[in-house]
Amino acid sequence: MLKSITFLFFVLQSFNALAMNGASLFAQNCAACHGSQGNGGVGVPLALPDFQRSVSDEFLIKTIRHGRPGRVMPAFKNLSDAEVKSLVKYLRSWNTHPARNEKIVTRPGNITHGKQLFANHCSACHGAEGTGGHGTGVTFSRPRDLPIIAPALNNSGFLAAASDKMIKTTLMHGRKGTPMVSFLKQGLSEQDIDDLVSYVRSFEKHPYDQQVALQGADTPIIRMESPNSLAATVKAVQRAAIGKNFRIIRVQALNQGMVKAGKENKKQTIIFFCNFEFLNNALAVDPRVGLFLPCRVTVVEHKGKVEVFAINPKYLSRIFNNNELNKLCDEMDKVYQDILEEATL
Ligand code: HEC
Ligand code: HEC
Repeated sequence: MLKSITFLFFVLQSFNALAMNGASLFAQNCAACHGSQGNGGVGVPLALPDFQRSVSDEFLIKTIRHGRPGRVMPAFKNLSDAEVKSLVKYLRSWNTHPARNEKIVTRPGNITHGKQLFANHCSACHGAEGTGGHGTGVTFSRPRDLPIIAPALNNSGFLAAASDKMIKTTLMHGRKGTPMVSFLKQGLSEQDIDDLVSYVRSFEKHPYDQQVALQGADTPIIRMESPNSLAATVKAVQRAAIGKNFRIIRVQALNQGMVKAGKENKKQTIIFFCNFEFLNNALAVDPRVGLFLPCRVTVVEHKGKVEVFAINPKYLSRIFNNNELNKLCDEMDKVYQDILEEATL
């Protein structure tokens, strides 16, 4: 008797440890984007009843493993199977509503009709080719009552995780508390929904995320040599930046504030500049863009040689798994290249 009580206690304890572990894994790996209680942020909410009731544990496991390439959601490849399991258990602790008592049967639908329906009913939010809404869940440009971005459906991570049944359930019931509504209530028939599911499934043949890659992202720094003096080059950088519609924020010694006033290294100058429209657009694409901004160019004189440096935005963008940010950083890179070229003529 005592033995079995001890055993039971042990079992309960290890369940508890599993759940605890899930909570701390979530806090470490997910909460920054999905909110500490799964209420959403940069990432979609995970605690809502309609979400919890429409997805299987397998969907959650696969989503954690595959991530959503190019859509901010990382692929967690280095968590152990046990850790992923305890994460899922923790996510399920928010599932307070009983399962729906219904049997969802999926049937092959008409892709061509599904495509038409998608253009009329879905593309405004999910993008014409199912590439997902723009920006992230916390953007300044977005109305406050629409803080949830429509996920990409034409995405290898989503398609690998989502079963037809999950997609159908989502379309039948919607997700209360988000802009995603029930399309049965919107007047579509179950046949229409089957057609839509088949259309979404057909994205599998050419998932969008594999088409966006960064060229020239392998060096952290863009660097050019200037034939002119340090002072002339600093002036030329400012002129070139203004010519590209930037405002100069300040020009200072690179080590200003790090050494005693008057002791700054006059041979290393940094120029900060910004364009507020660009800044707002960039923040809407990804709040982590703060790492890149304001724009800055450093001019250094070393052994009589003057060199101009900028960070390579594409090098930083690589780690963020955000196709929109990649495009933006591609543009930023071109701007930097132009400014550096003009300043070193
Ligand atoms: C008004 C905007 C809007 C419209 C219109 C809309 N959706 Fe959504 N959809 C969303 C949002 C936002 C979410 C994410 C909800 C959440 O956070 O759980 C979503 C979620 C989904 C999901 C689940 C995705 C995932 O990653 O789990 C599917 C599937 C889906 N929508 C398909 C469709 C289809 C098909 C249509 C057209 C019949 C459609 N949606 C119309 C906004 C919309
Ligand atoms: C850097 C931000 C970020 C981190 C970190 C992150 N996610 Fe996500 N997650 C997202 C975004 C953004 C989406 C929606 C993708 C889209 O819009 O296409 C998402 C989608 C999801 C989905 C699919 C939701 C749905 O409606 O189908 C699940 C499940 C999920 N994340 C779980 C997790 C878990 C668990 C972790 C931690 C192990 C995690 N995420 C870490 C940003 C993040």
